[in-house]
Amino acid sequence: MNMRRDSSAALVHAMLDVLVPSESVEVAVCPPAVYLHDVGAALRGSHVSLGAQDMHSTDDGAFTGEISGGMLNDLGCRYVILGHSERRQLFGETDASVSEKIAAAYANDLVPIVCVGETLEQRESGATADVVASQIRGSLSGLDAARAATLVVAYEPVWAIGTGRTATPEQAEEVHAQIRQLLTELFGEATAQSIRIQYGGSVKPDNAQELLSQPNIDGALVGGASLKADSFAAIVAAAA
Ligand code: PGA
Repeated sequence: MNMRRDSSAALVHAMLDVLVPSESVEVAVCPPAVYLHDVGAALRGSHVSLGAQDMHSTDDGAFTGEISGGMLNDLGCRYVILGHSERRQLFGETDASVSEKIAAAYANDLVPIVCVGETLEQRESGATADVVASQIRGSLSGLDAARAATLVVAYEPVWAIGTGRTATPEQAEEVHAQIRQLLTELFGEATAQSIRIQYGGSVKPDNAQELLSQPNIDGALVGGASLKADSFAAIVAAAA
């Protein structure tokens, strides 16, 4: 929940000025829903995709205040973030509701970016692997391997989001490898390899390359550092 109409369009124009397209890196931006139209217009014809930050699991109907997958598709979205820790912690999102939203996203030709991650308390009590596995199993229940192949999973330790405290590359890679293993059990080796597992949580230009060079870290979900064109472009360059 950042920026305003003019500043978000200006940010996207500034990003497009400094981003260097690379065949090996796919880039998307996920603005607040009210700015999807303007940001989408600014991105038209560029190599950058549009995504949303959440959606409802039902297509149309009496759900005042909600936004459906069909509406996001209508606005040109390709991606939708689901189960972000702020949705889970502040707005009652559960693995069950994320699972319903994933099905609705695919039904509307949207690629879900499904977020999982442990709290600091859970990490300190040694529960990280169990918490993340339980979120993955619960959120992805009902998903078949054909659809899962295009899925994006974002591992975002809650204690690293917006705190400036990044997981070390070793800490992140350890969890990413566990996620890849679990995805292999759920969907088979080939599908698990094609699922992109992003790391999120205080990704910045100065830590992006080290994180992204880990074998199971396929991309980044960037919050604060995406609010400035130069720092976002520097992260994309690190990925390339
Ligand atoms: P951050 O946010 O990069 O500012 O930590 C990440 C997120 O909100 O997913």
